[in-house]
Amino acid sequence: MMDIPTLKKILIRLFNNYIRSHLPKVIVALILSFCVAGGTAAIAWLLDPAIKKIFVEEDPSMLLLIPAAIVFAFTAKGLSLFFARKILIKLGNEVVRVLQIELSSCFLKSDTHTIESRHSGRFIQHFLYDISLVSNMVASGVLNLMKDSLTLIVLMGLMFYQNWKLAIFALIMMPLAAFVSKSLGKKLGKATEESARVIGNLTAFLTEMIKGSRMIKVYQQEKFELNRSAEIMKEHMKRQNKIGFIMIRVTPIMEIITGFMIAGFIFYTGVMVSKGEIAINNFFSFLTAMMLAYQPIRSLATINMLFYQGAAGASRIFSVLDTEVNIKDNKNAKDLKIVKGNVELKNVSFSYPKTNSNAINNVNIFIEGGTTAALVGHSGAGKSTIINLLPRFYDPREGKVFIDGQNIAEISLSSLRKQISLVSQDTILFDDTVKANIAYANLNASENQIKQACEFAAASEFIEELPQGYETVIGENGIKLSGGQKQRLSIARAILKDSPIILLDEATSSLDSDSEQKVQNAIINLTKNKTTLVIAHRLSTIIRANKIFVINQGKVIDVGSHKDLLEKSTIYKNLYSKQLNTH
Ligand SMILES: Nc1ncnc2c1ncn2[C@@H]1O[C@H](COP(=O)(O)OP(=O)(O)OP(=O)(O)O)[C@@H](O)[C@H]1O
Ligand SMILES: [Mg+2]
Repeated sequence: MMDIPTLKKILIRLFNNYIRSHLPKVIVALILSFCVAGGTAAIAWLLDPAIKKIFVEEDPSMLLLIPAAIVFAFTAKGLSLFFARKILIKLGNEVVRVLQIELSSCFLKSDTHTIESRHSGRFIQHFLYDISLVSNMVASGVLNLMKDSLTLIVLMGLMFYQNWKLAIFALIMMPLAAFVSKSLGKKLGKATEESARVIGNLTAFLTEMIKGSRMIKVYQQEKFELNRSAEIMKEHMKRQNKIGFIMIRVTPIMEIITGFMIAGFIFYTGVMVSKGEIAINNFFSFLTAMMLAYQPIRSLATINMLFYQGAAGASRIFSVLDTEVNIKDNKNAKDLKIVKGNVELKNVSFSYPKTNSNAINNVNIFIEGGTTAALVGHSGAGKSTIINLLPRFYDPREGKVFIDGQNIAEISLSSLRKQISLVSQDTILFDDTVKANIAYANLNASENQIKQACEFAAASEFIEELPQGYETVIGENGIKLSGGQKQRLSIARAILKDSPIILLDEATSSLDSDSEQKVQNAIINLTKNKTTLVIAHRLSTIIRANKIFVINQGKVIDVGSHKDLLEKSTIYKNLYSKQLNTH
């Protein structure tokens, strides 16, 4: 649960980073809030002359003037409130926009590890739920704070003006309301925190349910999933009930306080009237002011809840924004200069964060520029891990990686990644047109370049048969395409990038021999004269490789050509006979 200093710190940060630059607007809203307060007080005050001049003294000149003044006061109040709200709604949404951009940009820069260590649903929670708490705080919280406290002050002033003894009496009730609101605000902050956790679970569950729809169907787990969702939704309902109940708890308390106030007021004025200390016009004006003060008191009693909730949302967003990025450019990072395209791993060890054992151990690999090296080994041997180190998805724990003699930890990330193409085990495509998916590698590519890349990737034939050819939208992760077609599209994308270093994590799923041949041809075109590191599952790829590294339990245990290894490596022989896809 958030304590007051933390709350303060978060609010100060929100103000400094997101609101300070809009200060003139806030000041305009503040001035408009003054008008609202003035309008409200004017309405109560006008009853004084209304009664005195119109009813008691029966002055005909006031008969039109006072009603007109009342219309004016209401209009001024209504319009000022409208414009003040408008300004703060806009400001709230502006803060949301900036925070969302910061979250996106922070996500895009985050370490692979940071992203993978949390469920995607959590990130969505920050973007939608936490952000909405902040915007609510800015749009409603700030406005109500300004407008209601000003209104209250002006109304109190009027009450003192009408009768100071009665006003002191009314004042006694205020600290009571403040005390109630403080304790409720804390409770609400806690409930909101719990609610955010449940909403995180809910978004996580929803993304999985939607992504896993086919598995759910085939394993017939609809009932299980329904129960699981019912659990989360029940939790969600409970939290929302709790928040709702805390919010309304203030109502009966405030009603009771108001009841006491009015009862006491009537009793006390009764005494005063009998002593002739208060006139009827003062009485009505005072009573109206007190009634009108009820709304701002009530609103101020719940306002700190808005701030607690907003700060809780903001603190979760800040904790994401503040996550340290480890993989970034060093100071004075130079750009990578490719000469031949030699790639070398020197005594590289790596363990995934929060694991005890090394995923790879003291690995030494040298690949001559323009040649192809293959990694083979059992599942879980560490092959993908080795590939992940080259574009610096992760940094080695020990040892160094060099490209043309330059340590990749010391060159700029963008220049490094510019020189690397990656075709991963599971193809990643976007829900966009075929053309856009391929042009992703080079947004300036001409139509011809895109078509040529598809030609080389043996993909143009099937693309032309799609309903809208290159303009066909291929669905989420290319759901409207076959496995082989997806692979060829991702190869076409890599061909378009035309980078000197190619990383290829061959898909384990085998294709029919016809598609297989096409994918193989696409790979041959992709890797021609490029430094290629391929995780090979197919014999044809392995035989073509200039050098083969046999990986076992995170270590390179044998190196050589296919022929050499068949002679000297038992593990390789074993793999060859049992595991490799001999298409
Ligand atoms: N993100 C991760 N966090 C923690 N451990 C991981 C992670 N990814 C992989 N590992 C572990 O690291 C080891 C090496 O995994 P890696 O993915 O490199 O295997 P692989 O050789 O590519 O296997 P496959 O042929 O099945 O793809 C495995 O023991 C795996 O459990
Ligand atoms: Mg792998």
